[in-house]
Amino acid sequence: MRVLSGVQPSGVLHIGNYFGAIRQFLKLQEEHECFFFLADLHSLTTVQDASRMRSLVRDLATAYLAFGLDPSRSVVYRQSDIPEVPELMWYLSTVTSMGLMQRCHSYKDKVAQGVVPNLGLFSYPTLMAADILIVNSDLVPVGKDQKQHLEVTRDIALSFHAVYSKDVFKLPKPVIMDDVAVIPGLDGQKMSKSYGNTIDIFGPEKPIRKRIMGIKTDSTPVDEPKSTEGNPLYQLITLFAPENEKAWVEKAFKEGGTGYGEIKKRLFEYYLETFSDARRRYDELSRDPAEVDRVLAEGALKTREAVAPLMDKVRQTVGMK
Ligand code: ADP
Ligand code: TRP
Repeated sequence: MRVLSGVQPSGVLHIGNYFGAIRQFLKLQEEHECFFFLADLHSLTTVQDASRMRSLVRDLATAYLAFGLDPSRSVVYRQSDIPEVPELMWYLSTVTSMGLMQRCHSYKDKVAQGVVPNLGLFSYPTLMAADILIVNSDLVPVGKDQKQHLEVTRDIALSFHAVYSKDVFKLPKPVIMDDVAVIPGLDGQKMSKSYGNTIDIFGPEKPIRKRIMGIKTDSTPVDEPKSTEGNPLYQLITLFAPENEKAWVEKAFKEGGTGYGEIKKRLFEYYLETFSDARRRYDELSRDPAEVDRVLAEGALKTREAVAPLMDKVRQTVGMK
């Protein structure tokens, strides 16, 4: 099966991104032919500062590799290196009804959050359809919030087939990662860069420790049992605790006698153990940006080669050749 997915370089990677997306990519890479890309053209709808964009792209590419996305198995590329993607987006946008775009929640949600709407943000699902259709993907793993965009992708492909009376695209299947728990942030809401409640994965230890020590807890005294329900500290520590420490965690919450401060210190230790390899590799790669560039250049070459036959067919179908 051919798998495609992407993440927008629009902020510093946090542990919600890891458990919600990157960890599934690593599993899929074991079994399938995968294309993983950096959706930088998508990010332009909200990040409009060139040097910030460059550093976000570099950070995300470095993180992909540090976590173990393996360029000898998977194709890792940057969306803007593939000019065929915006070209296909244009062809698709001419067979997409306004109504279909107007029904998309994500645009309305972003505007409701205060994002200043632009045409790019509105037509974003047609760009996403181009990303997906251009590599003939069979499976597209995404979070629940992106499910509608996959339905829209199928609708757009079908509409293209109807307009030109010709089947050109493979209809992809979503792999909705809804068995993946929503990771809570420091305040107990969904962890998200837009809520400022994240725990980052890379960067110096000290501020991360400080964030972990700042996880919101109630005022249960040390000797009393602590509630686990809706307690972000409990949810986070159970994600990170190694098997042989799980009993300690349960006891610390349910029996009393262990203070929140001590539990948070443990969480920080588990966090460091979980990410130590990735963090070391990230530091190494940060000192070798040429290697990251090399991987992206190779990924762009492979992707452009892979999309060429389909693009020929599309151009022929619409009369551009
Ligand atoms: P953010 O909410 O911080 O802006 P994005 O929307 O850029 O994050 O998400 C990138 C990927 O990480 C998506 O696949 C999304 O489903 C996943 N993700 C983000 N936050 C969480 C979370 N708190 N729990 C689980 N997965 C998450
Ligand atoms: N829209 C996705 C997000 O915000 C990122 C994305 C862009 C994507 N194109 C894609 C995901 C194609 C999967 C397939 O998370």
